[in-house]
Amino acid sequence: MAGEDSPLLGSESSIRDNNRRRVEYAVKILALIGVVAAAIGVFFIRAPKIQVGSPEFPSLLGFCDQVAEVPAIQYLERQQELARTLAANNASALIAESGATMKYYTNVDWALSERPFVMVLKPDNSSKTGVSLTFVVPAFEALRAHENIEKAALPRSLNIKVVEWEESASPYEKIGSVLSPEGEIQLDIAIRLFLAEGISKLTPGRTIMASPEVQVLRMIKSHEEVEIMRCANHATVAAIKEVKKHVGKGISENEIASMTHKALQTAGLTETWVLALINERAALPHGEAGDHKLGDEGVVLIDAGGRLKGYESDITRTFFVSENPKEFNATIYEAWHTVKAAQSAVIEKATLNLPCAEVDTIARQIIDKASYGDYFKHRLGHGIGLEGHEQPYMVQSNTQQSLKSGMTFSVEPGIYVPHQFGIRLEDIVVMTKNGIELLSGGLANSPWEL
Ligand SMILES: *[C@@H]1O[C@H](CO)[C@@H](O)[C@H](O)[C@H]1NC(C)=O
Ligand SMILES: *[C@@H]1O[C@H](CO)[C@@H](O)[C@H](O)[C@H]1NC(C)=O
Ligand SMILES: *[C@@H]1O[C@H](CO)[C@@H](O)[C@H](O)[C@H]1NC(C)=O
Repeated sequence: MAGEDSPLLGSESSIRDNNRRRVEYAVKILALIGVVAAAIGVFFIRAPKIQVGSPEFPSLLGFCDQVAEVPAIQYLERQQELARTLAANNASALIAESGATMKYYTNVDWALSERPFVMVLKPDNSSKTGVSLTFVVPAFEALRAHENIEKAALPRSLNIKVVEWEESASPYEKIGSVLSPEGEIQLDIAIRLFLAEGISKLTPGRTIMASPEVQVLRMIKSHEEVEIMRCANHATVAAIKEVKKHVGKGISENEIASMTHKALQTAGLTETWVLALINERAALPHGEAGDHKLGDEGVVLIDAGGRLKGYESDITRTFFVSENPKEFNATIYEAWHTVKAAQSAVIEKATLNLPCAEVDTIARQIIDKASYGDYFKHRLGHGIGLEGHEQPYMVQSNTQQSLKSGMTFSVEPGIYVPHQFGIRLEDIVVMTKNGIELLSGGLANSPWEL
């Protein structure tokens, strides 16, 4: 085709031209090979450096592969326990929207939107299981609702009903059609106001917030739930320990955060989140990572977690980076040990039936005694499970709830001196009949050794 385009060229010049083109072509290929070879060379020479910035964390691979799901039968058992509790409360139903409570009782996932998708669970002596479970779902999404309910793989003995509400009609009337004519209707604490109002207008004087007896059911974890949370928290500690190996002079908070995300995800956690703060930035209990860099020495706080089989983890480690530990700032060193002593005291002294407020007091007394009381402004801890923060809360105002076997919560005292330093240590624990058990493997050993 090229010849036809240039009919004026003689055959000799055409051959010369072709030869020249071949030579040029060969030179280009050689040049390209050279560039590629050089790039590979540079890659190998620089490989160790690249690894520091973006390590692979092979030791974390498959960390929780052996952990079992919550067995299907447990969802039925939870529903039966709820039905018995409702009956004892003289209540005829619990209504919950999609979210943690629905997941807890039914294993059904449904993203919360403005269109109500609710579970109505009633005690029902006419059914074999003792419960009646109905989902009220948007009619145009009914097919997908059935799919998600199918995916939840609940025991066959549960006779699940699905009621559809049409977009142009009232969802409340459909919910009302499922309710018994008598007995109080308990509403999950997370239900939204428009739904609570819509339902209470239909059932005047009968709707109340979920009773304390119902609320406590989700706080008490089964063996399987505890084992999932144990692995999720062990994995989080292991991830922070791995990341620490790569934390040194010049690294930024953002770099620490992105490495931690990667480590957590390598360990199998999803929906990971990380706070990584350096030096005085750690005095902000919920500070956001930025471009701040670590100098020759300093204090690094990593608070991180993620989700495993639906359950959340949450661990904080504050560690020191320094050439000579003996010369490290004594004030900060002592503050670290005060926080650790507060954590240890809670783990040793908290007993069954101790009010949550007093669990907080155990830690607070130690921090007060070290004169840092004014710098420990948040509660000692929060419950954790399907939600990162859930009941029970270890806080001075929580005098009603006491520790029960199976409750899982964080123990996270802290000292935050604005513009100077911040220290927080956080571990997840489970209350047992024999006292508190750590779900994180162990508390940090020292500010250098996690
Ligand atoms: C439930 O109703 C029964 C009979 O009316 C009553 O004796 C009992 O005290 C009620 N229980 C609660 C928790 O309200
Ligand atoms: C169901 O049966 C149990 C025991 O037979 C009884 O105590 C309870 O009140 C009954 N509940 C309802 C809702 O009928
Ligand atoms: C130790 O750190 C505190 C808090 O940042 C600071 O006020 C103090 O000057 C430091 N001490 C030494 C010896 O550097």
